[in-house]
Amino acid sequence: MIYLYSVFSFSGLVILLSAGLMIAERFLVNYGICKLDINAGERPLEVKGGQTLLSCLYANEIFIPSACGGKGSCGHCKITVISGGGPVLPTETPFLSRKEIRSGVRLACQVKVREDIYVRIPEDFLNVRLFSSTVTSTRGLTYDIKEVRVKLNDPPEISQRPGQYVQIQAPSPEGPVFRAYSISSAVYEYNEVEVVVRLIPGGVGSTYVHNLQVNDEVTFTGPYGEFHLNEDPSVEIVCVGGGAGMAPMKNIIYSLYDRWPDRSCWLFFGCRTTKDIFYLEQFKELEKKHHNFHVIYALSDKLEPDEKWDGETGFIHLSVDKHLEQGVPRQAFLCGPPLMIEAVTRVLEEKGLQPEDIFYDEF
Ligand SMILES: Cc1cc2nc3c(=O)[nH]c(=O)nc-3n(C[C@H](O)[C@H](O)[C@H](O)COP(=O)(O)OP(=O)(O)OC[C@H]3O[C@@H](n4cnc5c(N)ncnc54)[C@H](O)[C@@H]3O)c2cc1C
Ligand code: FES
Repeated sequence: MIYLYSVFSFSGLVILLSAGLMIAERFLVNYGICKLDINAGERPLEVKGGQTLLSCLYANEIFIPSACGGKGSCGHCKITVISGGGPVLPTETPFLSRKEIRSGVRLACQVKVREDIYVRIPEDFLNVRLFSSTVTSTRGLTYDIKEVRVKLNDPPEISQRPGQYVQIQAPSPEGPVFRAYSISSAVYEYNEVEVVVRLIPGGVGSTYVHNLQVNDEVTFTGPYGEFHLNEDPSVEIVCVGGGAGMAPMKNIIYSLYDRWPDRSCWLFFGCRTTKDIFYLEQFKELEKKHHNFHVIYALSDKLEPDEKWDGETGFIHLSVDKHLEQGVPRQAFLCGPPLMIEAVTRVLEEKGLQPEDIFYDEF
């Protein structure tokens, strides 16, 4: 009992001290104006010290991926700090490999600017823009998945690579937050962006998107993402998705066939029941137009007596294993729940794909 009492008292004291230090830092410590040097003089800035690096960059319209909105839980906001970032924090280490720590990679949302700071930011991030847009259509695809399309106002065009994503701004009681959503519209649709969003009960971003109506204004930043389609048309493309993980697959497939009508591509889509199926008919139409396009949907749950389905059944990685031959030059894009990504990656590696040929986003 005395032991427990001591532990609680000590923890309480530590929490009080930390809170005191945070309040003192916020209101009493003045770091003045600090220099923020980006890419060796490419974008020299002066910022008010005491804020996070992510906020300073955002205030200067440099938008780093930050799917968790700066809470330190997504690990997306990595940039290289050359000097002035202070020591790596315990909140950062779960997201950084030893190699990254050695080369100065940090989470921009965890680094506080307290002195002049020198950073290196990938050129891709410097091209990210803040967009204002207007909703032009909304459509329920299943009981919990909605498609929303917006027309871009300012800037009026977006230049994206297949499979990239945007971060949509949603209101929340604590102020605006950003959530990542893959772009489902193809790269040639310069003036529009479409997203496919699954409703997470109580979720801030997904509820906001599901409640959007035609003519509503939407703000987002983008494009972001590491997907790079292989430009060699002899390389076969494999897309594997589940649920809202369809969004980047739709973008990749339509962008691909606009450019290479004869390119070989497989779409594997995992659903639990027939209620989770969407876009099947339009992909079947595309399959008729492009002889090298193959669409496989598979249901993982046992069929109900009244359910009609003559397609494949079982987990989607089993379909991938069944249909893909060994040793063909390929690149794969996977989007869906972590367990699906893990199982499909294993199968693809057995088929001869190297880790650098497999791109994935877990959600
Ligand atoms: C690169 C990237 C691309 C993405 N693209 C898409 C996309 O195209 N379509 C799409 O629908 N989503 C996509 N997501 C997920 C999306 O960014 C949000 O995480 C998701 O919509 C939940 O946000 P929220 O604000 O609604 O929920 P939050 O308010 O963040 O969370 C509410 C609660 O739900 C829990 N929760 C959060 N996510 C899930 C989940 N997936 N399953 C179960 N519980 C959850 C949280 O832990 C919390 O308890 C993507 C994510 C990333 C990183
Ligand atoms: S923004 Fe998510 S970890 Fe930094």
